Amino acid sequence: MSEAIEVDISDLPGVGPATKAKLEAGGITTILDLAASTVNELVDNLNITDETAHNLIFEAQRLLKEKGYLEKDLVSAQELYDRRAKMVRCTTYSNNLDKLFLGGIETQAVTEFYGEFGSGKTQICHTLCISSQTTVEEHGLGGNVLYIDTESTFRPERIAQIAKTRNMDVDKMLENIHVAKVYNASHLELIIKALGSLIQQNGIKLVIVDSIISLHRAEFVGRGTLSERQQKLNAIMHRLKRIAEIYNIAIVITNQVQASPDTFFGDPTKAAGGNIIGHASTYRVYLRKAGQERKAIMIDSPCHPYSDTNFVITEGGIGDPDEAKKSSTSSWKSKVAEKTVKRAVSSKEDDEKDSEEEKS
Ligand SMILES: Nc1ncnc2c1ncn2[C@@H]1O[C@H](COP(=O)(O)OP(=O)(O)O)[C@@H](O)[C@H]1O
Ligand SMILES: [Mg+2]
Repeated sequence: MSEAIEVDISDLPGVGPATKAKLEAGGITTILDLAASTVNELVDNLNITDETAHNLIFEAQRLLKEKGYLEKDLVSAQELYDRRAKMVRCTTYSNNLDKLFLGGIETQAVTEFYGEFGSGKTQICHTLCISSQTTVEEHGLGGNVLYIDTESTFRPERIAQIAKTRNMDVDKMLENIHVAKVYNASHLELIIKALGSLIQQNGIKLVIVDSIISLHRAEFVGRGTLSERQQKLNAIMHRLKRIAEIYNIAIVITNQVQASPDTFFGDPTKAAGGNIIGHASTYRVYLRKAGQERKAIMIDSPCHPYSDTNFVITEGGIGDPDEAKKSSTSSWKSKVAEKTVKRAVSSKEDDEKDSEEEKS
């Protein structure tokens, strides 16, 4: 279960029932929502002065820092160490991919997978929906999942297939995945704002946003809207990062690559969304197809060296090429060996023929 935050908006100085009701009407129900708001948001949504908005946010942040839920402006290395000690890693069911993450997908972090269509982003998300539900001893997170689906690619039958292949309780797995289907950018922003209470109410240990950018990319087109789009994405990313830290949960987001199939511009190996998403993601992994396999490359990480690895997509979700390869490699090897022998035999026969022809 997520650690509950036991401070209430009405614990703030100067916040009586009237202000509380006003905040709630504006969608701010937890102290975390308030702490993560911007002055402009509060002024626009609640019709209050700049000064009041500033004070409310300041007090919310101060209280959370005081209670140890939010990192203080200055913390000792010991405090950071203790906080990191609570971090848990979730397996991807691929040893290779786990190794790339030095053990699995971390809590207190935002992990970004980006790559072109079909590179395996959604398949990794589906696999994590299962692995994260297992206990910490089984390399899971021992909690439930919130899947924010902006591309309508969540498939319960795929979850069932992965769980069944792994001899798990299919119904239980499905029951513990909460899916939010999101159809436009402002809907996504609203869900991200409400994330704190959704996590607490539903015992969420993994939040997936698949994908972070598609809706904003589709709605904010043209140069004139770029800065507004980036500002909105920045607010989303900022909040995701805070939430991962405060609730000690894992957050996984997917992102597209810059070039879209209908344009000739943009670098197909660069993530969409510019620096805003990259800077806020703790880990950034680029995925691409490599024949039948998939390659994952650690592009950005505070503690990992540059490295890459291969994984495969199977009925049981994400896995390693080794097993699949062993059988196919050995048959491939024996085929090659067979051919080499045949060639050697036939070339020997040819040589003999040649030399006989020469002789004659
Ligand atoms: N049950 C399955 N078994 C093996 N491979 C699968 C299965 N389901 C999907 N895949 C593979 O996953 C690919 C799609 O990956 P996906 O994660 O949806 O890509 P994206 O990066 O666009 O989200 C398909 O091309 C297919 O090769
Ligand atoms: Mg996808």
